[in-house]
Amino acid sequence: MSERAVRVGAVGFGYWGPNLVRNLDRLGDADLVAACDASEGNRAKLAAAYPDVAVHGDLADMLAAHELDAVVIATSAPTHYALARQVLEAGLHCFVEKPLTLTSADALELVKLAEERGVVLMVGHLMVYHSAVEFIKRTIDSGELGDVLYLYAQRLNLGKVRTEENAFWSLAPHDVSVALYLLGETPDSVSASGAAYLNEGVDDTVFANLHFPSGKMVNIHVSWLDPHKVRKFTIVGTKKMLVFDDMQATEKVWIYDKGVVPKQALSYGEDLTLRFGDINVPFLKMGEPLAAEVQHFLDCCRTGATPRSSGRDGLAVVRILEAVDESIRANGAPSPISLEG
Ligand SMILES: NC(=O)c1ccc[n+]([C@@H]2O[C@H](COP(=O)([O-])OP(=O)(O)OC[C@H]3O[C@@H](n4cnc5c(N)ncnc54)[C@H](O)[C@@H]3O)[C@@H](O)[C@H]2O)c1
Repeated sequence: MSERAVRVGAVGFGYWGPNLVRNLDRLGDADLVAACDASEGNRAKLAAAYPDVAVHGDLADMLAAHELDAVVIATSAPTHYALARQVLEAGLHCFVEKPLTLTSADALELVKLAEERGVVLMVGHLMVYHSAVEFIKRTIDSGELGDVLYLYAQRLNLGKVRTEENAFWSLAPHDVSVALYLLGETPDSVSASGAAYLNEGVDDTVFANLHFPSGKMVNIHVSWLDPHKVRKFTIVGTKKMLVFDDMQATEKVWIYDKGVVPKQALSYGEDLTLRFGDINVPFLKMGEPLAAEVQHFLDCCRTGATPRSSGRDGLAVVRILEAVDESIRANGAPSPISLEG
């Protein structure tokens, strides 16, 4: 694609869509041509906020009326597959909010379709565009933490209680995508426990363990029935340990020079010693993760590069979400994960 702005259409102007549209409107690399929403009320809000943008009630109408390069989709998860399919079949680059689809079979179809058409498929795994996560990735890759042994993530709050999806599908795509990005590895099985206290069949609280071929382990605890508002990752390496607390306004990342090291010893029980060193709280320049995410999509549309949160990454996350559901239904029995195709 030439250096001209990417001509974009947006689908969905509910709770999250306006954030995407705001960024598309202000980023110079995007030409926000049109937008659509099925709700008349949301179309009225769209028209009032963006008088220069053509407003439609339906994706097919929007595609027929404009020469677009790309479409971003921020509708509810059950609609993602059909809408993304329409966009890819039209030969356009496509951004889909998380989760990519509700089944891994659907996600794989979208991935293959994008590959066949030679267009970009990107999924909105917002956290991998967070400055702190980018910093942590560089820290891990530099070897500063040593080998990562395990990490755990907590995403807890009281509300927002949903009925159409359980807490893991609603909250954990962020944590799963960050874990896969940081470790550069896909788990081969998961085991999980969950419980539905508020609405029958909809788990409010889930504890999931992801097991990796390398022996690394990831634990993810999500809940919308919890007294604390917590968004935290703890990463334990052989040399150092790192905590990312996203509830902190500024000091989000803490690196602890702590560990357990072997010592020269004669007898069993005296062969390990604890090491306590400095705590480093690096200064991190924070940008809006969503602006970075949208800019990355535009860059990929222009260059054809594979996005950091590609369709295949979206597929891996959906497969893990499915496997967590399977394991919960099997009372915590491990559910294997394979990502063929
Ligand atoms: N990245 C994040 O941090 C983040 C945060 C919140 C939501 N999301 C994701 O954004 C997506 C939307 O969530 P939301 O909370 O905004 O939902 P929402 O229900 O508030 O809004 C969805 C909008 O899409 C419209 N819509 C639905 N079907 C449509 C169709 N076929 N054609 C055109 N318009 C249609 C609805 O009228 C509504 O206005 C979900 O995938 C959600 O997971 C991401």
